Amino acid sequence: MCGIVGYVGGQEAWPIIYEGLRRLEYRGYDSAGIAVVDANGDIQLRKTVGKVNGLDGDGVGSHLKGTIGLGHTRWATHGRPSHENAHPHIDCEQRVAVVHNGIVENYLELKRRLIGDGHVFESDTDTEVLTHLVEEGMDRGLSFQESFRRMGRMVKGSQAISAINQGDAAEICALRLGHAGGIVVAQSEGQAIIGSDLPALLPLLHTASNTGQVGFLETGEMVVVTPSGVEYQDLEGNHIDKQPRMVTQEEVLVDKAGYQHFMLKEIMEQPQAVASAIRERVNFETRRVVLPDFPFSSQEIAELDRVMLIGCGTSLNAAHVGRTLVERYGGLPAEAESASEFRYRNPYIGPRTLVVSIGQSGETADTVAAMQMVKEKGGKLITICNSEGSQASRIADGTLYMRAGLEIGVASTKTFVASLTILNLLAIFLGQSRGVLDTAKTHELVDGLAQMPRLIGDLLADRAVYQLLAEEYAGFNNFLFLGRGLNAPIASEGALKLKEISYIHAEGYPAGEMKHGPIALIDSAMATVALAPKDSLYDKVANNVKEVKARDGRVLAVLTQGDVDLAAEVDDAIYIPEAPEHLIPLLLTVPLQLLAYHIALLRDRDVDQPRNLAKSVTVE
Ligand code: AGP
Repeated sequence: MCGIVGYVGGQEAWPIIYEGLRRLEYRGYDSAGIAVVDANGDIQLRKTVGKVNGLDGDGVGSHLKGTIGLGHTRWATHGRPSHENAHPHIDCEQRVAVVHNGIVENYLELKRRLIGDGHVFESDTDTEVLTHLVEEGMDRGLSFQESFRRMGRMVKGSQAISAINQGDAAEICALRLGHAGGIVVAQSEGQAIIGSDLPALLPLLHTASNTGQVGFLETGEMVVVTPSGVEYQDLEGNHIDKQPRMVTQEEVLVDKAGYQHFMLKEIMEQPQAVASAIRERVNFETRRVVLPDFPFSSQEIAELDRVMLIGCGTSLNAAHVGRTLVERYGGLPAEAESASEFRYRNPYIGPRTLVVSIGQSGETADTVAAMQMVKEKGGKLITICNSEGSQASRIADGTLYMRAGLEIGVASTKTFVASLTILNLLAIFLGQSRGVLDTAKTHELVDGLAQMPRLIGDLLADRAVYQLLAEEYAGFNNFLFLGRGLNAPIASEGALKLKEISYIHAEGYPAGEMKHGPIALIDSAMATVALAPKDSLYDKVANNVKEVKARDGRVLAVLTQGDVDLAAEVDDAIYIPEAPEHLIPLLLTVPLQLLAYHIALLRDRDVDQPRNLAKSVTVE
């Protein structure tokens, strides 16, 4: 949610901030703005509605001049995307410019009081109260830094805030409250940069031997950044000793590697994502799963009586697959639920409950809050996440990292297949540890996993067909995705991918439920994507497919290679290779991603940054 970039040093600030904002657009792109302090010490401001490149209004790259500045790319929470609501927000005397990521929970109360004291508001945002609070501190004779700290002590909620002020002080203040907003800081040779996330730092770090030392703000911490140094403080102004962490080039560098979109690049990276997820977690000599990062003892695993899997969006779909895997191979009762529902229903959680949270970002507000509740209730908590050092990984007793590499496309792809891979490993590990999987079954499951990178690679090599299929299906305005058993959540994931990047209405449905209502929708204008691989529920899905065909529905079926019988009954067929049942969901995912991608291209959609979405949803 929202991206912040600030620069101070000897170079022009605008191009560095602009480039940083472009790299943070995955966090939101409803509006953008940059403020710089010019040679006279005055704040100059430019804003745009929509993406960051709108700031480059004349198309010739003219920019505001100055060597200190602050920029923002917004995902709207309070107030619609508009020029007035775009950040930075400056006070009426143009003394301070403020940018913000998160929500000021007590903004109404603060705003009422400030209006009563004569402050005039120009936007509908919660952020603007921050500007007025800093202004108020300065009116009372406090320094800019003191005013910023005072503002930080007055606001409630989870957020990151940064500000600059007029004059020649050349300092950027930034703080972090709660879990929603990260701030990272890098400094090199008389210049410094702050950002919401590592990719924002690239303009500075690429000059520092492709790696660099980065400071990460914790909640309640503030940083003052000047060309000559970086000072970490608490909100009372006490010095904090912080050890910066060395980050790798991979953590910072983001490029499309020649692909047209990040989404396609990330789809193509799925064989490596699966291989990385398996690495060091399978002993190929004993053909058993070893999970060095699993935090609980054999005794504690034996005492578990229940597993709850939670997540949101794509991660929730993974949780539903995981539920069945854990029940089937782990030998434990398992449930899956949206973190946003789970956190509000006061679920029974005890010391024998294992909660598994799933999240690409590890920062999704509902997932993080649900995890905190689990900790308070004394449950055992692990997380499957992709982002090192995320909130989720800090809250959990242990983290099984996806190791999928940075995912920039807003639509999750490689992190979904990495999640499914780890859920397979987890289910097998629990089954092994609890003695419910015999050796032969364990070997069969593990051997299958080892084949996955190759099989997914084969599927991707054959991707030309999806463009042709997309031409057939891009004109449909309604899609039903059907699947059963382990594949029902994959139907939901296929529908989610299609709707989020193409804006076509699509529903994922358990195929057996179709006749209880959705069948009324079937006619020649409804496209059905039927997941009908050769597994234990094949005959049941085949019957459901025939029910759709009998009502003139258009059917695209995803079948196992060689299934000529069902192929003859449907309009179009695509194939996955034969595979063991627990791994079919991984294979089915790939054609659905590619179909959604090509349909979205034909509809001329912004595949990597679809409207209204953001990569990590750090607000409720
Ligand atoms: C997936 O394509 C979406 N971008 C979205 O549903 C996402 O999965 C959801 O917001 C959860 O994010 P997380 O995995 O980072 O927790």
